[in-house]
Amino acid sequence: MMYDPDVNPMSDIRFSRIERVFTRGNTSHAVLKDIDLHVKAQEFVSIVGPSGCGKTTMLRLAAGLDMPTSGEVSVGGRVVEGPGPDRAVVFQQFALFPWKTVSENIEFGLRCKGMRASERAKRVEHYLQLMNLQERGDAYPHQLSGGMQQRVAIARSYALDPQVLLMDEPFGALDAQTRTVMQEELLRICSASRRTVLFITHAVEEAVYLSDRVIVMGRNRGAIVADIDICSTRLSGDWTAHKRIEDVMDLPSFIDLRTRIWKLLREQEPEGAATTPHLA
Ligand SMILES: Nc1ncnc2c1ncn2[C@@H]1O[C@H](COP(=O)(O)OP(=O)(O)O)[C@@H](O)[C@H]1O
Ligand SMILES: [Mg+2]
Repeated sequence: MMYDPDVNPMSDIRFSRIERVFTRGNTSHAVLKDIDLHVKAQEFVSIVGPSGCGKTTMLRLAAGLDMPTSGEVSVGGRVVEGPGPDRAVVFQQFALFPWKTVSENIEFGLRCKGMRASERAKRVEHYLQLMNLQERGDAYPHQLSGGMQQRVAIARSYALDPQVLLMDEPFGALDAQTRTVMQEELLRICSASRRTVLFITHAVEEAVYLSDRVIVMGRNRGAIVADIDICSTRLSGDWTAHKRIEDVMDLPSFIDLRTRIWKLLREQEPEGAATTPHLA
């Protein structure tokens, strides 16, 4: 039977006993070892961790852009063997087609999905507006600022309406104000039609604001050092009354979570490791 992502409401992401070893010359380097992680269908999970700990590698495995050395990743119960239309990826680098206009970039994936021209045009228009790019549909990527290019890349993935969104520091290159707009937009889109999101960021506040759960990865072979529930705090507290990040950020429950994650990240820094032999 053909796999139709539109009729699969259960797109969870499961990493099972994942190991990823990179080999350079004679040396091999285990980046991920024995990683187990389950992102439930319609859950928003962020990963934070020190640079180089294997976050992007995790995302690439879920995207099917890289394969594990052992173990497996499955999405919606199917083992990932390559990229698929059920998963949209947004990277920190925009990866737009430079020879296509903004509209054509957004439209490209829809065309691949076999969507009718009239429907494509409607959807492109909708996302141009959403991303505040309605004046720039005919521009080429090189004519846009970095922030605008990133909004095109985000529009392109949102327009595909995928079950699973995989985002690797997608807002990292944006100025603070645009970033806030994008975060609120992402939350709005996710609550309007629930989807499964795996989101990588180095911004702790962003992770706490957006996520149902925050995974903290350690320096040691990408081990998962903490799995922090944000959802119950958000639902039980007064977060629901505040929609904007600047209001939520001042709530004691938000500050508690942020501080907890900050401390865990601190412990991952080699400088802070009092047990390091040469410091002892
Ligand atoms: N294709 C590759 N070949 C060799 N080493 C790689 C490759 N991709 C990633 N690595 C290494 O794996 C480690 C984790 O990388 P990455 O997943 O990008 O970390 P993060 O996103 O957490 O900063 C790094 O040490 C990096 O140099
Ligand atoms: Mg990375």
